[in-house]
Amino acid sequence: MTSSPAARPCPLPRVVLVFGTRPEAIKMAPLLHALRVDGGFDVRLCVTAQHRQMLDEVLELFELSADHDLDAMTEGQSLNGLCARLLERLEGVLAAEQPDLVLVHGDTSTCAMASLAAFQRGIPLAHIEAGLRTGNLQAPWPEEANRRLTAVFATLHFAPTESARRNLLAEGVADAAICVTGNTVVDALQWMCRHLDELGWRPPAGPLGQLPEGAPVVLITGHRRENFGEGFEQICHALAELARRYPQVQFVYPVHLNPQVRGPVHRLLGGIANLQLLPPQDYRHFVWLMQRASLILTDSGGVQEEAPSLHKPVLLMRTATERPEAVAAGCVRLVGTDAVRIVDEVSRLLDDPAAAREMRSASNPYGDGLACRRILARLREYFGLAQGAPA
Ligand code: UD1
Ligand code: UDP
Repeated sequence: MTSSPAARPCPLPRVVLVFGTRPEAIKMAPLLHALRVDGGFDVRLCVTAQHRQMLDEVLELFELSADHDLDAMTEGQSLNGLCARLLERLEGVLAAEQPDLVLVHGDTSTCAMASLAAFQRGIPLAHIEAGLRTGNLQAPWPEEANRRLTAVFATLHFAPTESARRNLLAEGVADAAICVTGNTVVDALQWMCRHLDELGWRPPAGPLGQLPEGAPVVLITGHRRENFGEGFEQICHALAELARRYPQVQFVYPVHLNPQVRGPVHRLLGGIANLQLLPPQDYRHFVWLMQRASLILTDSGGVQEEAPSLHKPVLLMRTATERPEAVAAGCVRLVGTDAVRIVDEVSRLLDDPAAAREMRSASNPYGDGLACRRILARLREYFGLAQGAPA
């Protein structure tokens, strides 16, 4: 399950990155590359595989290989069962590696358990994408609690925005422990967009390749636990009605592998001609889909941060967001999960090009693609290493 204990002949500071889900992997991939290229650190990667297939796709795409793979995912896993497996298995990795710093990302169970495991072994912790808050422990659930827990243990807090920094200060975190960097998702997205451009990439034959030229595309994703049950039923009813009302529009929905999502979505939305239910798309395909979309309907965290960089309007199927910046900028609109409201809001953007244009014109508040350089510079400072070129 884990590789053999790593002896410590290397004088460089040892940093262990721990992540386990698709979004963490996408957002940590550019940082992992930056740390390895830098050469000033002994970098180790531990994947928990809280996600299996959805994680492996990202590892393959970004050519990342793990030093430890905890293989934690089980079908339909419970939060407590998963957390227990993670904590138990992380203990072995941290004991073997004896890192100088553990780096975690975001708000997942992997993030929270790796933070707790590091703390209980007395290992300093750095939190990437720190300081996001709704102030409501039920939304997002359980992610709001995971973020707060990690903040309690972190030595270094890498906040993506000024407002995230203010949230941390309000909780009593010392200013000197916070570094505002932008979100590493912008680094990853820019890399992928360049990659697609350089390759002149076009989708292969199959559902994406067959999207009718010029047809408007509405891209959909959804997986939040607080939307399970009634919320997902409402979302599905809205999508069925929209597909009926707008036969010229293609509705494309890569469906998350969680059985609590797959079940209702396939039951309520199967067999609609202009509504394609697809498996999760690898990041290259998904970025292409975001570029191709006229608007995006989602409850995802990462998609809220990426879409503004691509100037795509986002309708957010949640009642609260820990990412208020894009809402304030005007490119993301909170619409909740009521079917009537979703149908109205999507219709408004499809029927009124000026309304969609206005949302597209807002600027991206989540960064400039240099987040990893800023994190690297702060890590070098933390370990007393000479600085490279400034970010
Ligand atoms: C997790 C995170 C959530 C994050 C989301 C990103 C927690 C509590 N939740 O939610 O914050 O937004 O990932 O997608 O950390 N599954 C597969 N294959 C995969 C991935 C998932 O089959 O590659 C199925 C399994 O049955 C698994 C279930 O989905 O048990 C749930 O996975 P889990 O990571 O517990 O929850 P997510 O809803 O994915
Ligand atoms: N994503 C992807 N394929 C998909 C759906 C999403 O690669 O089929 C990417 C998306 O671009 C973003 C990340 O996955 O970078 C978001 O993951 P998710 O919505 O599962 O989690 P969240 O961000 O809500 O934690």
